[in-house]
Amino acid sequence: MQIKQALRQAETTLTDSPSAQLDAQILLARVLDKGREFLLSWPEKEITHEQQEHFLQLLAERQRGIPIAYLTGRRAFWDFDLEVNTDVLIPRPETELLVELALQNLKQENQLIADLGTGSGAIALALARERPQWKVIASDTSAGALNVARRNAETLALDNLDFRPGSWCEVIATDEKLDALLANPPYIDPEDHHLQQGDLRFEPKNALVAGAGGMADLQTIVQQAREKLLPRGLLLLEHGYQQAAGLQKLLQESGYNDIETHQDLAGLDRVTLARR
Ligand SMILES: C[S@@+](CC[C@H](N)C(=O)[O-])C[C@H]1O[C@@H](n2cnc3c(N)ncnc32)[C@H](O)[C@@H]1O
Repeated sequence: MQIKQALRQAETTLTDSPSAQLDAQILLARVLDKGREFLLSWPEKEITHEQQEHFLQLLAERQRGIPIAYLTGRRAFWDFDLEVNTDVLIPRPETELLVELALQNLKQENQLIADLGTGSGAIALALARERPQWKVIASDTSAGALNVARRNAETLALDNLDFRPGSWCEVIATDEKLDALLANPPYIDPEDHHLQQGDLRFEPKNALVAGAGGMADLQTIVQQAREKLLPRGLLLLEHGYQQAAGLQKLLQESGYNDIETHQDLAGLDRVTLARR
């Protein structure tokens, strides 16, 4: 079978995907271990029987709804590619706002910062790469996620990271004071119907869902972070688009200053910043 025939057939198989053509190209490129441009340059090239079988298997999984990133094992974030698997949340483009705000607001050369709930390592690795002189603590309660994050750091040859298993600020020692704490914690209400749709169905629940209408982990971090931050230390939290007012109130009541919420590219409230 030729590449162009395989792609044409695939598009008719992927009836539930809103991006069938693109999905088919990404998956066939993955099977052939080439870039998508190869498919477009060599449409008449024959693929082997094994490649065809592998492609059909990936198409069947995609048709079941499995996210493309889990099928290819990769997702782009910031200016690099990350390994991802079902132990980690697939990094979202809107999380890059958190990275941008950290870079804009932390001007000193040497900073000690932490990315709590690091998942694939997206936030921690982006900052460690942009600022090699910073030390970046990256933590998670999921051993599987920390393994993925460690492998991603190795691939990117980063050595200014410190991976720590454990829950939120409990990974910070009593005598350790940080310039900044960042987190994109689980913030979806367990009753939210979106959990039954799209990629969310396949992502780890402990990366997505938090009690108290999605606010429980944000509340814990706000409470714990104050005593771990240096005076004027920065707290940066990603949250749901309807959670900004509740989070701002919580930050005010907990004694934080300079509280501001920033919008993502879709214009939705996405990251709230505060200083100790
Ligand atoms: C929304 S995901 C964010 C992953 C990654 N930081 C990103 O932005 O792509 C939340 C992460 O928090 C982790 N997590 C859940 N509960 C935690 C806890 N109590 N302490 C630390 N990490 C936790 C999950 O395992 C998951 O990796």
